[in-house]
Amino acid sequence: MLERLDQIEAEGLAELEVAGDEEALQAWKTRYLGRSAELGRITESLRELPKDERPAFGRRANEVKGALESALAQREAALEQASLDRNLTAEALDVTLPGRRIVRGRLHPATQMLREISTIFAKMGFQIYRSREVETDDFNFGFLNMPPYHPARDQWDTFFTGDPGIVLRTHTSPGQIHVMRERAPEPIRVILPGMCYRYEQVTARSEFQFNQVEGLAVGEHITFADLKGTLVTFARSLFGEGVRTRFRASHFPFTEPSAEMDIECFVCQGAGCSVCKKTGWLEILGCGMVHPTVLVNGGYDPELNSGFAFGMGPERIAMLKYRIEDIRYFWANDLRFLEQF
Ligand code: PHE
Repeated sequence: MLERLDQIEAEGLAELEVAGDEEALQAWKTRYLGRSAELGRITESLRELPKDERPAFGRRANEVKGALESALAQREAALEQASLDRNLTAEALDVTLPGRRIVRGRLHPATQMLREISTIFAKMGFQIYRSREVETDDFNFGFLNMPPYHPARDQWDTFFTGDPGIVLRTHTSPGQIHVMRERAPEPIRVILPGMCYRYEQVTARSEFQFNQVEGLAVGEHITFADLKGTLVTFARSLFGEGVRTRFRASHFPFTEPSAEMDIECFVCQGAGCSVCKKTGWLEILGCGMVHPTVLVNGGYDPELNSGFAFGMGPERIAMLKYRIEDIRYFWANDLRFLEQF
C-alpha cells in the first residue's frame, strides 16, 4: 500500500509537468485530487489495515496529498505567468518610440479676420447680429431705396432663385432693415457679419461668395463725425496706430451722403506701387449716413433719428493685410494655403 502511494506521487508529479493548459490541469486535478481519485479511495481503505500500520500510512497519504496540491498550485502559477508573458510579447509596446503628432485644426483665415473685426467693434459697443442669406427682393433692394427697375440694382450681379422675388443676398445691407424693424424706436449699434453671393465671373479679384461685415448705428444725434471716428478707430486697431485714412465721396442708394474709406498703402507707404495700383491708397469699405427712406422703411422717424452704416469685405481686408494675391484661395480648401494662418 505504501508503495502505491509513492507511485501515485511520482506519476502525479510527472503528469503535472506535461499538463500544458487549463483543460489538462482540470483533468489532472480530477484524476489525482478529485472525489473518486485513487488517492482518496485508498485513504478511505485505511480502516482495513492492521491497526499499527495505520498511522504511518495516514501520514504518508497526507504527505502525498500535500505534495500534489502544492505542485498543482505551482504549476498553475507557472502556466499563468507563461500566458501573461505570451500576451506581453504579442502585444509588445515600445514606449521609446516617438509619438505620432496630433494634427490640430485651426480657424479658417476668413473666420479669423471676421473675429478680429468683430472684436474691434465689440469693444466700441457694437452687438453682433446675424441675418439670413436667402432674402427677398424687397430686403435686398426695395427697402434699401432701390425700387424695381432702379438702375442701381445692376451694381449687384444677383443670383435669382426659382422662386420669384427670392434672391441670395448680394450684400449684408438687408440686415439693416431686419435689425431696425426689430429694434425701432430704440437706438441701434450692431455689426452684421455673414456670407454674400454675387453672380460674377470668378477671378483672382472676385469670388461669387464672400463675407461682408455690415455696421449700423441709429440714434438721436448721430452725425458723419461719429461715422468717421468709429471707422478711423477701427482702421487704427486693425492696421496699426499710425495708419493714415481718407474718405472719398461715393454713391450708394441707401446712404446719403456716401463715402468710401481708404487706408494708406502699407506696402509703399503711399508712394505708389503695384498693390495700390500707383495710387498710394487702398480702398477698404463703403459707408454713409443712412438714407431717410431707409430709416422710414426700418420704422424710424428721420426727423428724430439719424444713423450711419458701413460695409466691408473681410477676405479683401485679409488679402491686403496678408498680401494674398488671389481671392480664390479662400474657398479652394488647399491646406498649403490654409496652414499659413
Ligand atoms: N452694401 C454695400 C456694398 O455691398 C456696402 C455698404 C454698406 C455701403 C453700408 C454703404 C453702407 O457694396
